[in-house]
Amino acid sequence: MLGEFVSAEQYARLLQRGQQDSEGWLQFDPAQMQNHYNRHPFLLQHRLNQHPMFDIEPLFELARRHPANKVLFRRGDIAPDADFDASFVRTDTELTLDHLLTHFEPLHGYICINNPEQDAIYRPQIESLLAEITAHTHPLDPHITWYSTYVFISAQGAVTPYHMDREMNFLLQIRGEKTADLWSQTDPLIMSPAQKDRLLAYEGTRPPYKPEFEQRALHFSLRPGLGLHHPFIAPHRVWTHSNLSVSLAFTFRTRQSDRHTAAHQLNARLRRIGLQNPKPVGESAWVDGAKAASLHALQRLRHPLQHAEH
Ligand SMILES: [Fe+2]
Repeated sequence: MLGEFVSAEQYARLLQRGQQDSEGWLQFDPAQMQNHYNRHPFLLQHRLNQHPMFDIEPLFELARRHPANKVLFRRGDIAPDADFDASFVRTDTELTLDHLLTHFEPLHGYICINNPEQDAIYRPQIESLLAEITAHTHPLDPHITWYSTYVFISAQGAVTPYHMDREMNFLLQIRGEKTADLWSQTDPLIMSPAQKDRLLAYEGTRPPYKPEFEQRALHFSLRPGLGLHHPFIAPHRVWTHSNLSVSLAFTFRTRQSDRHTAAHQLNARLRRIGLQNPKPVGESAWVDGAKAASLHALQRLRHPLQHAEH
């Protein structure tokens, strides 16, 4: 799995740092966080467009020195309803990263740099952002347990097809414009409880897009200095415009989202053994907690040595 786990000790240090000497790259509105965090998408302001590390040339240098398996690239002109997981399977197998970077705009290039936090030069800045996020999510959703970041660079007209991720996200637009369409993660017409259970259990493919979803989409226009919060597993689709676009996705999980994930996974098991309608996740914190504890007990029974070692 991409990304890094955050221990209790690391979290305590990040929280202290975020509360005491935040560099203020992200501007959270406490009322907006209180009312919308992890329930509804919302815009926030940031200053990363003023940070030299996120200019194009330093990012291209990062792409060149980063491990090859962490830099996904392709031509950007694919259909908006293409399969998300297949969208990085390049049909143009002759395309090299170096060639794409050298001719980025004429080739309508699209690059995703996975985990810039694993780069020695980028790590301090990404950790500083993580500390800021921690300070503002802590009162509402204490203890980030895992995070992973991604830099997206697209020349023009790139589409990230409809999909949902198994975490929360702050998508920070740094250069150029982007349109993000989001759908409610709690709307059963968009994703049924069974589909969400299977998504979190990694069973089958992700819940698919249907044309009738279009009228239920929320549209957000992103420009440099604006970011967009994605609640846990909220479906989304992203379009860039006719100019070069750079954005940083800051994805993370918390103890609460881990509990929800485990409860969904237990529901998926119950469905597999024939229970038709287990209580949907999110309706009762007590039931979700009990399901998460049951799943972990089952996993310990199945892999006692593995769990004893941790
Ligand atoms: Fe996504």
